[in-house]
Amino acid sequence: MVSLLYQKSKEFLDSLINEGKITPQLEALKNHHLESYEHSMRVGLLSVDLGLENHVNDFELRLLGYSGLLHDVGKVKIPLEILSKTEKLTSEELEVIKSHSRLGFLEIDDELEYGLIKPIIVAHHEYKKEGYPRKGRDRRKKARNKDRRKRKADINKLAEIIAVADMYDALTSSRSYKIALPKEEVEKILKTQYTGSTKYVEQVLDRN
Ligand SMILES: [Fe+2]
Ligand SMILES: [Fe+2]
Repeated sequence: MVSLLYQKSKEFLDSLINEGKITPQLEALKNHHLESYEHSMRVGLLSVDLGLENHVNDFELRLLGYSGLLHDVGKVKIPLEILSKTEKLTSEELEVIKSHSRLGFLEIDDELEYGLIKPIIVAHHEYKKEGYPRKGRDRRKKARNKDRRKRKADINKLAEIIAVADMYDALTSSRSYKIALPKEEVEKILKTQYTGSTKYVEQVLDRN
């Protein structure tokens, strides 16, 4: 990833990791499936970078860092033979993979960042065509509540940023089952499949 903000983003993310609050979850993911762990580190970095570019507040930047790092933590509960399978997944296996959003929700401490990491993580695959686990914006609105501190964080905006960072990294990195796609293909897929703000698509593509 190339960005003018890269160094600042990296320092911020490192300081968040060094707080140690999510070390057990990161270690568990690293030990279970290294590829998912490395992807999560990149998504965390890109999410923070996009947050800085979009001038989110300090609290929102923390939420982005944690959510990016933990968005796929539910994969610790997905059998390794499915995660590492190089052939096409069966529809049953695909459903198992898709369960990682909800499993991640359950995996996260209720108290982490005032409970606001959980609603972001469960929504990270909802900003695309055929999104899951929930459909439609109405259900996302349930994430809001009346706590004063929570009102200072726009959960839907942050979930949109995590979603675009996740899609971008998934498309631009090679995995056990696929190669990294060329830039034109990445652009085409993001522009047709991502349902969040087009502004974020332009911003991630600018990082190429
Ligand atoms: Fe995911
Ligand atoms: Fe992901």
